[in-house]
Amino acid sequence: MSKGKFIVFEGIDGSGKTTQINKLCEYLESKGRKVYVTSEPTISMTGGILRDALSGVSKRTSCEMAAMFVLDRIFHNVNHKWGIEKMLNEGYDVLCDRYYYSSLAYQGSETDYEWVKRMNLDCPEIRTPDACIFLDLTPEESLERISKGRATTEIYETKEKLTAVRNTFLNVFEELKENPNEHIYIISAFGDVETVAKRISAAMDEIV
Ligand code: TYD
Repeated sequence: MSKGKFIVFEGIDGSGKTTQINKLCEYLESKGRKVYVTSEPTISMTGGILRDALSGVSKRTSCEMAAMFVLDRIFHNVNHKWGIEKMLNEGYDVLCDRYYYSSLAYQGSETDYEWVKRMNLDCPEIRTPDACIFLDLTPEESLERISKGRATTEIYETKEKLTAVRNTFLNVFEELKENPNEHIYIISAFGDVETVAKRISAAMDEIV
């Protein structure tokens, strides 16, 4: 049995990650592949603490957040029930909603970027994805989509914040391009669902 591919989706809030993950899942399954969809923060205990902090229920420092995301991510990779390694070894393609690129962009813009980067990229138990798809959208369009689709907004969803995070994401990818292990696809999220889905499946045909 051949090992599956590990594909990460990133994007600022409102960029349509969830919809497009489901579309890619359908596409890969239609090609006869087995697919496992997952996300970060995970369903672990640390993931629960992170979600409370993200929604404002509890307050955490940027360093606490960065460290907890690393802990959650290690567990996400190695746990024997639903871990990424286990699923890849069983031949599943793993599609993950957010990964360490989010830590570099969000926590990296709030605290020491190099520290956040090293914790994630140098950790032997945090796998490098086979592909990272960044769904790129302007903050204006993103906020419009968010306000249509949701009743509440999270702490990261102000225009200034979205602009800063998008720029940080783009800087992160620019810098990571130097690393031959990183395979980053910046894909325009403008247009209807099917149009964006086609852009993604065409890019992924190259690796699966
Ligand atoms: P969530 O509502 O679960 O998903 P999404 O916004 O992708 O639909 O929110 C996840 C939040 O977690 C999002 O605001 C970004 C944040 N986050 C980080 O700050 N650092 C990280 O490493 C990860 C994985 C997520």
